[in-house]
Amino acid sequence: MQQVLIGYDPGNHWCKICLEKPDGTIEKIVIPSSLATDQNSIVTEGSSYSFTLHTDPEKGNEREFFKSWSTNEVYEPYQVVVGDRTGQGKPRFAFPLLVAAIWPHIQNGDCIKLVASVHDKATYGQAMKEGLNGVHSVTYTTKDETQETKTFCIDVLDIVYESAGVVLGQENRPVKSFILDIGGGTVLAIPMNAARLALDSVIELPHSGVKSLLGQLTICNELKSLIRSDAGMSKHYARVMSNEGLMAMLKNKGIATVEKIKVDCRDVIKPVVQRWLKSLESELYQSLSASYLDEPGRTLLLSGGGSLVPYVKEWAQGLNFKIVSDPQFANATGLHSRAVSLSQKEKVAA
Ligand SMILES: Nc1ncnc2c1ncn2[C@@H]1O[C@H](COP(=O)(O)OP(=O)(O)OP(=O)(O)O)[C@@H](O)[C@H]1O
Ligand SMILES: [Mg+2]
Repeated sequence: MQQVLIGYDPGNHWCKICLEKPDGTIEKIVIPSSLATDQNSIVTEGSSYSFTLHTDPEKGNEREFFKSWSTNEVYEPYQVVVGDRTGQGKPRFAFPLLVAAIWPHIQNGDCIKLVASVHDKATYGQAMKEGLNGVHSVTYTTKDETQETKTFCIDVLDIVYESAGVVLGQENRPVKSFILDIGGGTVLAIPMNAARLALDSVIELPHSGVKSLLGQLTICNELKSLIRSDAGMSKHYARVMSNEGLMAMLKNKGIATVEKIKVDCRDVIKPVVQRWLKSLESELYQSLSASYLDEPGRTLLLSGGGSLVPYVKEWAQGLNFKIVSDPQFANATGLHSRAVSLSQKEKVAA
């Protein structure tokens, strides 16, 4: 039996996994989550496998791709995301997405020791744990219709508040910190003391993440006419202005690519990004009961993929926040370090 250590951050938009194989090598895996923007299906492909996660009930014929023999439950991914998208969704989609992501890296008989995060631990922590824990036999069908089954066990060592991993992974862990995580959907604000992984006062701004910025960019007339003048034909225009196109532009530091032509959108998006940040800031100040941001001795950390959006760095510095290294992945890395220390403690105790 080989041990695999995992830190797992199942985001609304991207699932981040830090996986340590038995030989000590680390894999950083990022795959689109079931709730990814305007996609009905997510196909995760590797050299020898292909998983299709459908969020569209119409495509019923491709539904059944996971079966957990231990519980005899068939995971139907499209079902996983209907209903309460922000609530029950995460614990339910956490299992199939994890398996899809780690499949090429695990072997039959592996024991996976895992620390995962969830945005609302008090409400969903137990559901997340139950959704992952246990002995699972998973079968998947490859493109050429052959089937492969692996049996492995998942042992959930801990579930922590989403983004708390950011502090756990800091080299010199600050005694008092405040994490602001700008995710795809949600922005989380978490005051933390070293003695406790997370205080009860996690502030969740469920609609303030990058997706809300994308919404504002979609209706920005200046951006529309800039893209129209450079992108010309409507199919290119539509592609650049889609959520995926806008995300790619943000990722490329504000430069859109239209049929190999580069369109510099920086000046046009600047006021839109700044407006988004201003409203985020005022929401934050309204929600904070204590003045954490000004408290002496508290380290302010910014994480999440949103911290990589152009102009966010300047804004963060103005508020004395430090952007953590690899901000989109930082939570998963910290969860992995917690998995390492908890599994070592287990060994010592045994
Ligand atoms: N290098 C980058 N430059 C600009 N934007 C980026 C970059 N990397 C990621 N992003 C943006 O950050 C967004 C948020 O990513 P993140 O992985 O933090 O979200 P998430 O954890 O899935 O969402 P949530 O925390 O709401 O569940 C992405 O959707 C993407 O648009
Ligand atoms: Mg996140």
